[in-house]
Amino acid sequence: MKLLILTFLLTWALNAAAHGGIYTYNISSVIYQGNPWHIHDYGPFYGSGNASGIPAGTPSIQRRWYFWPLYNLSSPNMTCNFDGSFSPTTPSLHAPVRAGETITASYNVANFNLTAVERDQWYHQYGPLLIYMARCPGLSCAGWNGEGEVWFKIAEFGLVPGAKNLRGPWMQGVLLMGTSSPGVEVRVPGALKTGAYLVRHEVVNLQSNRADGAQFYVSCAQVFVEGGEGGKVPGERFSVAFPGAYKSSDPGLRIAGNEISDGELLEEYNTTDYQFPGPLVWDGEG
Ligand SMILES: *[C@@H]1O[C@H](CO)[C@@H](O)[C@H](O)[C@H]1NC(C)=O
Ligand SMILES: *[C@@H]1O[C@H](CO)[C@@H](O)[C@H](O)[C@H]1NC(C)=O
Ligand SMILES: *[C@@H]1O[C@H](CO)[C@@H](O)[C@H](O)[C@H]1NC(C)=O
Ligand SMILES: *[C@@H]1O[C@H](CO)[C@@H](O)[C@H](O)[C@H]1NC(C)=O
Ligand SMILES: *[C@@H]1O[C@H](CO)[C@@H](O)[C@H](O)[C@H]1NC(C)=O
Ligand SMILES: *[C@@H]1O[C@H](CO)[C@@H](O)[C@H](O)[C@H]1NC(C)=O
Repeated sequence: MKLLILTFLLTWALNAAAHGGIYTYNISSVIYQGNPWHIHDYGPFYGSGNASGIPAGTPSIQRRWYFWPLYNLSSPNMTCNFDGSFSPTTPSLHAPVRAGETITASYNVANFNLTAVERDQWYHQYGPLLIYMARCPGLSCAGWNGEGEVWFKIAEFGLVPGAKNLRGPWMQGVLLMGTSSPGVEVRVPGALKTGAYLVRHEVVNLQSNRADGAQFYVSCAQVFVEGGEGGKVPGERFSVAFPGAYKSSDPGLRIAGNEISDGELLEEYNTTDYQFPGPLVWDGEG
């Protein structure tokens, strides 16, 4: 028993810093490697911080992301992560996708084409996944910072059906955690108008210090939606800004705390009624 606990603690210690983001995308069955620049951001945990050997500026559809969590809801980092908007590594590529087809985002580093960071797997499992899109001005998203009330939600994932309370299990653990995780698959709304869009994946980790509040992990990718014969864009009531869409007092965020996983079950976690932050999911109507 003691050995088991020790092993668990060691595993925990090794993985405690294992945050992350999206390593690969499967968009209409084409695999896209994510932005290699995140490898440069690991810092001391991975030594030099340049484990990939992938030259800086290698083209990708994904904006640069930062390994560590975001906490500041009013920071521009909330739009597309640290440096995700303005860095010289802003990508110019767009992945074509037909309206109605799917995007699968993998947080599993095993799918990324390098070996030096294989220890790093997504480790969090308490909290929702929320996926947004924003229509870029013109025919390209390159250089656009995603400012304004332009973001609409296309999907959200909460508890696994049958979970008894907010201790889970959550879909986050099922879809993202570990070396065999399948990733999160979402459908581009079939009615969506043809054009260039940013896709913003957000993971919220509710298992964090109460004083710090929830942790946010944001990754953005550029896609070009084709065949959107529906020609629709969401109305104002579905559109929000990042930063701006969330407050730390939002019911689904203010409950963040380490107690979600440990000790006596607090009353606030003794429910399956999780209230997602942000607007309603746009289903192609309204
Ligand atoms: C990519 O996604 C499609 C559609 O979900 C799936 O059929 C295919 O197996 C995926 N490809 C890989 C390599 O995971
Ligand atoms: C990381 O390594 C690659 C390949 O050796 C190199 O092109 C790049 O400039 C390096 N980046 C940094 C920040 O050192
Ligand atoms: C959060 O971000 C805002 C906007 O950039 C900034 O003014 C504020 O100082 C930040 N707060 C913290 C605690 O870093
Ligand atoms: C944005 O993220 C970076 C990296 O964590 C951090 O250095 C910077 O202070 C953040 N900016 C704000 C306004 O929070
Ligand atoms: C991974 O890298 C190797 C060596 O650079 C290359 O031959 C291979 O095509 C790459 N695979 C993918 C999926 O990018
Ligand atoms: C959780 O709620 C259920 C139903 O209201 C109740 O029966 C149970 O005692 C509660 N558990 C705790 C640990 O408070």
